[in-house]
Amino acid sequence: MAYKTVIFHRKLFRFFLLGLTVLSFIFLLLYTSNVLEVGFQLSPTPVTAGVGDTGIHEGTHALPSEYTSIPEQSPFCTRLFGTAYLKSMRDWAAEYCAPESSSGLTCFHTQTSGSRIDSFCLARGASFNSTRQKFTLDCQLQAPSIPNAPVETPEYRHFTNYWYNTGPNVVFDKVLDLENTSHLTGHPGHLGHSNFTILVNREGAANPWHSLMEIFSMTMAIDVLRMSHHPQSSRPFFTAADIDRTQILVLDDSENGPFFDLWSLFARKPVQRLKDLKLDSPIGLQNLIIPAAGGSNPLWQGDWEPHSCRDSPLLRTFSNRVLDFYGLQGQTPGGADLVVTFINRTSSRKLDHSDEYFHEVEATFPHVKFRSVDFATIPFKQQLEIVRGTDVLVGVHGAGLTHGIFLSPGSAIVEILPSGLNHKGFRNVASLLGHSYFSSHASRTNGNDWHHEDVFLEKEKFMDLMNVAIKSMYNKGERNYDVN
Ligand SMILES: *[C@@H]1O[C@H](CO)[C@@H](O)[C@H](O)[C@H]1NC(C)=O
Ligand SMILES: *[C@@H]1O[C@H](CO)[C@@H](O)[C@H](O)[C@H]1NC(C)=O
Ligand SMILES: *[C@@H]1O[C@H](CO)[C@@H](O)[C@H](O)[C@H]1NC(C)=O
Ligand SMILES: *[C@@H]1O[C@H](CO)[C@@H](O)[C@H](O)[C@H]1NC(C)=O
Repeated sequence: MAYKTVIFHRKLFRFFLLGLTVLSFIFLLLYTSNVLEVGFQLSPTPVTAGVGDTGIHEGTHALPSEYTSIPEQSPFCTRLFGTAYLKSMRDWAAEYCAPESSSGLTCFHTQTSGSRIDSFCLARGASFNSTRQKFTLDCQLQAPSIPNAPVETPEYRHFTNYWYNTGPNVVFDKVLDLENTSHLTGHPGHLGHSNFTILVNREGAANPWHSLMEIFSMTMAIDVLRMSHHPQSSRPFFTAADIDRTQILVLDDSENGPFFDLWSLFARKPVQRLKDLKLDSPIGLQNLIIPAAGGSNPLWQGDWEPHSCRDSPLLRTFSNRVLDFYGLQGQTPGGADLVVTFINRTSSRKLDHSDEYFHEVEATFPHVKFRSVDFATIPFKQQLEIVRGTDVLVGVHGAGLTHGIFLSPGSAIVEILPSGLNHKGFRNVASLLGHSYFSSHASRTNGNDWHHEDVFLEKEKFMDLMNVAIKSMYNKGERNYDVN
C-alpha cells in the first residue's frame, strides 16, 4: 500500500516536472518572439535621437505605477488609448532655449491624428512681471532640431491651434514673453525645488465632455513630466512631491463651472485667476506647465467610426483618478434591485413620453429601481455618486452620457440617437471601459435640427431596447435572475 503511494507520488512529481518544462518552453518562445512585449513604439518617434545634442533624451523614467497591466491590442488602439501615447510624447521632447539662456523651454510632441502635431510644454525658471501681468523667460531661441526625425519638430509659436481659441500658442500669446537679456535670475539646472504653475486656458466651463477632455489632457502632461528629466539632473521634471508646490493659474474668463475642482488633481496650492492677481502678488521664479489642448485629446478621435479597442489604460486611469479625488473609488451598485438611471435632458432633445415609458419599465421588469436625473442641476460629486450607484445609464445622445466614463465596470449604457445621427463616441467609450452598449434611433424628427428637437421612439421599440439592456445585467455582480 505504502509502496504504491510512493510510486504514485513519484509519477505525479514527474508529471508536474514535465508540465513545468513545457510551460517554461512556451514562455521562452513567446518572450523571444516579443509577443509579450507590450510597449508599442510609434514609428515616427525619434526615440534616441538627440543624445548629446540637447541631452533631453538621455535616460528615461519608468511609467507612473498606476498604469499596470496592459492587455495586447492593435497598434491603433495602443497608440491612441494606451500608454504608448505617453511614451511617444516623452520620446519626442525638444529644447527650445539655447544653453546660454538662464531659463529653459521643453516641449513634448506627438502625432496621432493625420499630420497634426499635438504639443505641451514645460517652461523652467520663468519670472512674473506684475506690471505686464506676464511671465518672462530668459530664453535665446534655438532650432528644436532632432536629427533623423521623420517629421520636422514644430518651431516655437508654430504649434497647432485648436477650437475655442485653445492650445499652447494661445497661452504663449497671453502670458509668456521671451527675452534675450541673460538676467541670470536663475538657472534651469538648479530649479529642482521651484514651484510649479499650471496655466489653464479653458474652452468653457459647462460641457462635461469638453471639460473632462481638457482636464484629462492636463493629467497626461503631468504623467509625461513624471517620465522625463532634464539632462543635468536625474530627478524627473515632476514628482509626486511637487503636487504640494503646484498651483493652477486660470487665464480664461469663463465661470468656475462644475469641474473646476478637478483641475487641482495635481495641484494642492489654491487656484488663482490671472485677472485677480494683484500688482504686488508675490510670484517667485516658477516652472510653468502649459498642457496640451483638450481638443488634442486622443479620445476625440474616431468618434464617428466604431472601433474595436477594448481597453484604455489612459481612460481607466483617468476615471480612477477622478473617483479617487472625490473618495468614490470603491463604490459599486449593490442591492437586489438593478438601478436604471435616466438622464432627463430638460432644455433640448427631450425624450417624448418619458414619464409613461419609464412607468411601463417599472411595471414590466421585476428587480428594477428607476431614477430620473437632470445632471445640469446637481454638483459634480453628487452626479458621480449617482452614476456609481447605477447599473443601466439611459439617455438621449448628449454630453450627459459622458458619465459612462465613471460607471462601475461591466455596466450598461443605453443611447437613443436622433434620427440619422451616427455618432459613435459613447459606443466607443463603452467598449474601452468594458460596458455593454445598446442604441436605438429615433423614429422621426420634424425638421433637420437634431441638436434641439425632441426625440420620439415608439413604445414597442423603447421597451425592446430596455429589455435587452436590463436583462444584460441580470447576472452581473451578485445578481442572479432568470430572464423570463
Ligand atoms: C516689467 O515690465 C515693465 C513694462 O514692460 C518694465 O518696464 C519693467 O522693467 C519690467 N520689470 C522687470 C523686473 O523686468
Ligand atoms: C542674444 O544676445 C546675444 C548677446 O547678448 C547675441 O549674441 C545673440 O545673437 C542674441 N540672440 C538672439 C536670438 O537675438
Ligand atoms: C514656493 O512658494 C511658496 C509659497 O507658496 C514660497 O514660500 C516659496 O518660497 C516658493 N519657493 C520658491 C523656490 O520660489
Ligand atoms: C423629465 O423632466 C421633465 C421636466 O422637464 C418632466 O416633466 C418629466 O416628468 C421628466 N421625466 C422623467 C421620466 O422623470
